[in-house]
Amino acid sequence: MQLTSTQDGKSTDIPAENGVVRGADLARAGLSTYDPGLVNTATVRSAITYIDGDQGILEYRGYPIEQLAGNATHLEVAYLLLYGELPTPDQLAVWNNEINKHRFVHENVRGIIQSYRYDAHPMAKLMSGVASMVTFYPSARDIADPEARERNIVRMLAKIPTIAAWAYRQSIGRHYVYPNDELGYVDNFLAMLFQSQQLVYRADPRVTRALEVLFILHADHEQNCSTNAVRAVASAGNDVYTSVGAGIGALFGPLHGGANEAVLAMLKQIGSPDRVGEFIEGVKAGKARLMGFGHRVYKSYDPRARIIKKACEDVLEATGARNPLLEVARELEKVALEDEYFISRRLYPNVDFYSGLIYEALRFPPEMFTVLFAVPRTAGWCAQWLEGVTDPEQKIMRPRQVYTGHRERSFVPLEGRAGA
Ligand code: SDX
Repeated sequence: MQLTSTQDGKSTDIPAENGVVRGADLARAGLSTYDPGLVNTATVRSAITYIDGDQGILEYRGYPIEQLAGNATHLEVAYLLLYGELPTPDQLAVWNNEINKHRFVHENVRGIIQSYRYDAHPMAKLMSGVASMVTFYPSARDIADPEARERNIVRMLAKIPTIAAWAYRQSIGRHYVYPNDELGYVDNFLAMLFQSQQLVYRADPRVTRALEVLFILHADHEQNCSTNAVRAVASAGNDVYTSVGAGIGALFGPLHGGANEAVLAMLKQIGSPDRVGEFIEGVKAGKARLMGFGHRVYKSYDPRARIIKKACEDVLEATGARNPLLEVARELEKVALEDEYFISRRLYPNVDFYSGLIYEALRFPPEMFTVLFAVPRTAGWCAQWLEGVTDPEQKIMRPRQVYTGHRERSFVPLEGRAGA
């Protein structure tokens, strides 16, 4: 395919390989793009995650999400995202051991978390705890050194559950639980969150598996808002901690990772299935957003939402938690999927629609829900950071603008201004 730009009688051919036009070719023709939200603009080449929004397909390094969620562990998936292949048994054993060795966090990070008010949002504590890591591992700043990159990615993956758990413990005034090498990645995280007096907290295996599946589903999602933030900060030559800290900030937004917390608030506000119709009319009138619905890429059912919906039913059964909000969510989904407003806009449940119900059944407070998104997404952020800082095509991200302001005005002294 080829485009031709003709200006002042001069024609310039603009190649469009597979429907993609390069910015440099547009510039050569004296053209640029204006694309708020980068809705239709690729900023990177990536081989990590593939999404087909129309078909509802999600693959990590070519492996369907359904197969990974049904068979892998989160650390196996983290290895796949980072290095492109599923680990052999020996590689996985070394990988698990490496992560285990680095779970402890410098005691000063505990002080940073301790300095917050008890009711400070845990995402703020997580963001500062992670961003402070570069001060304890300054070697991470040498992003050209493959050894330093590898070592600090391992540290980032190993320590994010510890910092997240401590952010939670600080909010409930409980002692900090240290990592336990006898436990796997998810079980160790649950123990650091929920351990009280017993020697070693052992979660119900069904709960551990449900959280492992949620971790895998949340691990990566190509160039979403927070990954874009990670890559933008990385493009300036920043280390993995500083870049992941920026990703945590982006994920905090209610339109992004904060949506799972907002879904639960919405379900509680609706209260019962018989009030769903009234709420849906409010959404259609623009008075509210149906949180957990809609997606920039998926214009069909988010494949992750389908898996989470099943996991939700399993966890409610395992925990014996009867949650009337599940009936509200089911009725909300049913009504919305049959309503022309949502059908015409191709709005379907996304990853956040049912996840909050699982987290509530696992006794997490709503403000921890986005933290539970950030912990597994750290694997994808690290993989995307690594791909970005080693991509020879990449340069510092510095978009253009369409200027709409004044030009060449003369300074007016204070006494000469209106109202002086
Ligand atoms: C995540 O990008 C990723 O991959 C993100 C993520 C990941 O794994 O990283 O998948 C995680 O962030 C999932 C999304 C979680 N957010 C929510 O659930 C919040 C509610 N959803 C929306 O705010 C919205 O759907 C977005 C932000 C997710 C997507 O917004 P877009 O693509 O910019 O779509 P849009 O705002 O342009 O909406 C198109 C139309 C508009 O109507 P019109 O102006 O054409 O009349 O659809 C409407 C919107 O008003 N719309 C909604 C809606 N989402 C879009 N109307 C009601 N409820 C909604 N949820």
